[in-house]
Amino acid sequence: MSGEGRHARHVAIIMDGNGRWAKRKHLPRAMGHRRGVEAVRELVRSLKDTRIECLTLYAFSSENWKRPEDEVDDLMNLMRRFIKSDLPEFIANDVKLHILGDWQGLAPDIVAMLEDALEKTSHGSRTLAVALNYGSHAEIAQAARKAAEEGEVTEESIERHLYSAPLPPLDLLIRTSGEIRLSNFLLWQAAYAEMLFVDVLWPDFTPDHLKHALADFAERERRFGGR
Ligand code: FPP
Repeated sequence: MSGEGRHARHVAIIMDGNGRWAKRKHLPRAMGHRRGVEAVRELVRSLKDTRIECLTLYAFSSENWKRPEDEVDDLMNLMRRFIKSDLPEFIANDVKLHILGDWQGLAPDIVAMLEDALEKTSHGSRTLAVALNYGSHAEIAQAARKAAEEGEVTEESIERHLYSAPLPPLDLLIRTSGEIRLSNFLLWQAAYAEMLFVDVLWPDFTPDHLKHALADFAERERRFGGR
């Protein structure tokens, strides 16, 4: 039987390789992150040409605090600038922001900006979920704790307390830069996801790469989905 194959509703990306991109071009690491944000912007713009309902991006892990202070500052400043410059575009393009992670632990001005952005985009139909101060083990532990406080600890009760609770099931997890590991990202959610490790450094990742990834996903679904 031939079919169209299931399409990916929820795609998550581990955006890796900003540092290596900058190094190859003999630029400071900060430039790699800056170009990384441009790649994010282009990708979010391209969402309307896909059937993706939710794109989840790993922007800052709870382990990233261990990086040199300068770099952490750069990343936080990029975050500030990104929210400020791109919020009107999210609103105009019907993009709803969602945050995964212990984001209340970020600087108070960033928390305030995020609260504002969450509120202003709350009616959007397509979700951009950003993992900030995120770690999967901590996410599962806090969900299990809350489930226990409520009564029974079951898969369903844990799932209800994951940061991803309002999102569709994860279909496809992509990591750029050729590294093949999950780095404490969406460990629970990835249980049934397809995974794709691409040999492209994040600042070079374009909407075309995403389209190829979606085609790859559809092809895998066609092969394994039916009989
Ligand atoms: C990995 O590259 C990337 C990160 C640690 C952060 C990803 C952040 C961005 C793309 C910019 C911020 C995002 C938003 C949404 C404002 P790396 O530095 O680990 O690269 P390397 O492994 O080559 O050193």
